[in-house]
Amino acid sequence: QMGLSLYDNGYLNTAVCKSTISYIDGDRGILRYRGYNIEELAEHSSFIEVSYLLIYGELPTRQQLATWNARIMRHTFVHENMLEYMKSFRYDAHPMGMLVSAVAAMSTFHPEASTDLHGDQIYQDHKMINKQIFRLIGKIPTLAAIAYRHRIGRPYVYPNQELDFTGNFLFMMDRLSETTYTPNPALVRALDVIFILHADHELNCSTAAVRQLGSTGIDPYVSIAGATAALYGPSHGGANEAALKMLEEIGSVENIPAFIEQVKAKKRKLMGFGHRVYKFYDPRAKLMRKTAEEVFKIMGRNPIIDVAIELERIALSDEYFIKRNLYPNVDFYSGIIYKSMGFPTDFFPVLFAIARTTGWLAHWREQLLQGTPIFRPAQAYNGEEAREYVKMEDRV
Ligand code: SDX
Repeated sequence: QMGLSLYDNGYLNTAVCKSTISYIDGDRGILRYRGYNIEELAEHSSFIEVSYLLIYGELPTRQQLATWNARIMRHTFVHENMLEYMKSFRYDAHPMGMLVSAVAAMSTFHPEASTDLHGDQIYQDHKMINKQIFRLIGKIPTLAAIAYRHRIGRPYVYPNQELDFTGNFLFMMDRLSETTYTPNPALVRALDVIFILHADHELNCSTAAVRQLGSTGIDPYVSIAGATAALYGPSHGGANEAALKMLEEIGSVENIPAFIEQVKAKKRKLMGFGHRVYKFYDPRAKLMRKTAEEVFKIMGRNPIIDVAIELERIALSDEYFIKRNLYPNVDFYSGIIYKSMGFPTDFFPVLFAIARTTGWLAHWREQLLQGTPIFRPAQAYNGEEAREYVKMEDRV
């Protein structure tokens, strides 16, 4: 399963795993979940259906979807102890820090969940694996909503079982009311599509983290907490916040040429542009831009979108960016949408984590069933050759 090739710039490209979950063609801007194009899933599917597809590999029948949805919605409740734990954070704690901690703490609630990959009954016991999956997919939106309401100093809103996965999330996030708020269906659909677009993406940094941690046999809670920590990083899940900040700093289309010159002089980065794998247009960026228009119909147009569209137009016709295969990625438009929906900027990676938890769990489960041995990536040593010890008195 290991394929080693040494790049001329010294990076090892170690194909660390085989997977059947997502497929990316970076040169043609293709993304497929279990063989289905992301464009079709965004148009016809729902996040809860896509989460079933990612984890079990097939689109569910009507009955399978109903059972799957019911199990996850039942797990949207968290133990009152967890609520107390979340309340113990400072009022201004970063929501991602709270989420990483809370998900890790779930491990202490379920000590039975640690798996021994070599023959332990859990490895054969799909019931146990599925139960952990329901718990994490169901509870992470609730933990996210608790983190948000903790910050704004409002009481936690219990999950509403009458609503679907994404509608319930918006219900728990609502700023003002406790029980009267009914999320706007068009807004729910827009966020549901955004969750689909963020659900999985092959072996990105945080997914590699969950595979690495899971390969030690530890439970999925701390594995997902580790992945959430990786996503917290500004070069990964934090890029949408950075892209919005950059667009707001540019402020108007007149300022774009000067900014582009700074990028070419390597004084600034074009956040939300470029990708490790896509050397063509990230298909998710196109769908995010379309979703932005849907959100603006409800929340009003955010003028910053005009800066983003013009910046993209200029960059895509400029030799500097064309030569370097730099195109918008999923983060270029997402920050504008989230801000228009009323989410605080440091909450953006939390939204990413809610969606990506499904992909992370699909990889954690796949690896468990593959019986993958513990990760030990190769390194290319380029340090000192063997040498003798030098006594202190002989050192200069
Ligand atoms: C995500 O892995 C995943 O799939 C992640 C993700 C997911 O769904 O999980 O897709 C989510 O994290 C998307 C990426 C979000 N990050 C950003 O938008 C931050 C800005 N992007 C850059 O940091 C950068 O593009 C990377 C890190 C994403 C990719 O960098 P690479 O592959 O190392 O870039 P490269 O080697 O192809 O760069 C080629 C040239 C270089 O210039 P030269 O040395 O040739 O002169 O392009 C330049 C780079 O300096 N370059 C950029 C740039 N990205 C690369 N120049 C300006 N702005 C940029 N954003």
